[in-house]
Amino acid sequence: MIFYFSPQGNCRAIATRIAEKTGDNLVDITKVMRKPGSPVFSLKGESLGFVLPVIYDSVPSIMEEFINKIGFDLFFDDYSYVVLSYKNRTGGAQDALNQILSRDEIQLTAAYAIKSPGMERAGGPVEGDLEAQVQEMMKQVDRIIPMIKNKIPGNHNRDEHLISDLETDLDKAPFERASETRLFGVLDSCIHCGKCAQICPTYTIELEGEKPIPKWVKKRCSLCMGCFEICPVCAITYAGHTPHPRYLYSLYSNKEEKEEEKEFKNSKDIEEFF
Ligand SMILES: Cc1cc2nc3c(=O)[nH]c(=O)nc-3n(C[C@H](O)[C@H](O)[C@H](O)COP(=O)(O)O)c2cc1C
Ligand code: SF4
Ligand code: SF4
Repeated sequence: MIFYFSPQGNCRAIATRIAEKTGDNLVDITKVMRKPGSPVFSLKGESLGFVLPVIYDSVPSIMEEFINKIGFDLFFDDYSYVVLSYKNRTGGAQDALNQILSRDEIQLTAAYAIKSPGMERAGGPVEGDLEAQVQEMMKQVDRIIPMIKNKIPGNHNRDEHLISDLETDLDKAPFERASETRLFGVLDSCIHCGKCAQICPTYTIELEGEKPIPKWVKKRCSLCMGCFEICPVCAITYAGHTPHPRYLYSLYSNKEEKEEEKEFKNSKDIEEFF
């Protein structure tokens, strides 16, 4: 079973490609977070996989809430792995996930990292040939799939900026500062479509007024930047920036791949687990 979180779509594409080849089921963490209840996932002899973006040198802060919300029926095959999708450095993400999972007495047996396009910091620039970067990302995925299928243990993360020393305390201050929702704003160009509120995994955005304008109703959020990137008219600002340019995997993946993904998603993504 592969759990993924994917505000900009890279991790969803990576998880979908892995699931196509392994036959594993897919679970979208955002969907689970947006539904009430505490589902228990039964792994029935499958491997336990996570495909996650690196956010401020760690895993998305929502992972802690997610693991607290769900339960595992632990009949899994003892192969548990993470695939980290990152732009420049995976930092302490592997250790952070291991720490969260240790509450369920799970430790990762393997780790992989895939260099991916996107912004490296909230509101930061997105550069280069994004179509080529998307293709390169998927090539890397194809290279790790045989290892996942053959359940090869070990740290296969080749990122030189990996912080693998468990003694290293991750500096959480930059994330704490950046995740203050007062940094978000909305331009007059907002067309009131509500997509930003629909995508938010933490129900942080509410729409107010006759022509509803988004409002950030919590002091902090998980800083996934999904709202920022999904806005079709780039009306959301972060620290005064609008997306430059807007990055979503679906805007740069080729048509064939999109069709394949759609077909597979329709057949495999687990929606009804309650
Ligand atoms: C708020 C934010 C913080 C990020 N922090 C890092 C980081 O610390 N290191 C890094 O290499 N990439 C970082 N990234 C890049 C993402 O990890 C990368 O683009 C990933 O592929 C996004 O996955 P997704 O498309 O599934 O959302 C960050 C992206 C965002 C939006
Ligand atoms: S408010 Fe935006 S950045 Fe924050 S969690 Fe919601 S969608 Fe993600
Ligand atoms: S996604 Fe953009 S246009 Fe739509 S409501 Fe949100 S800010 Fe307005």
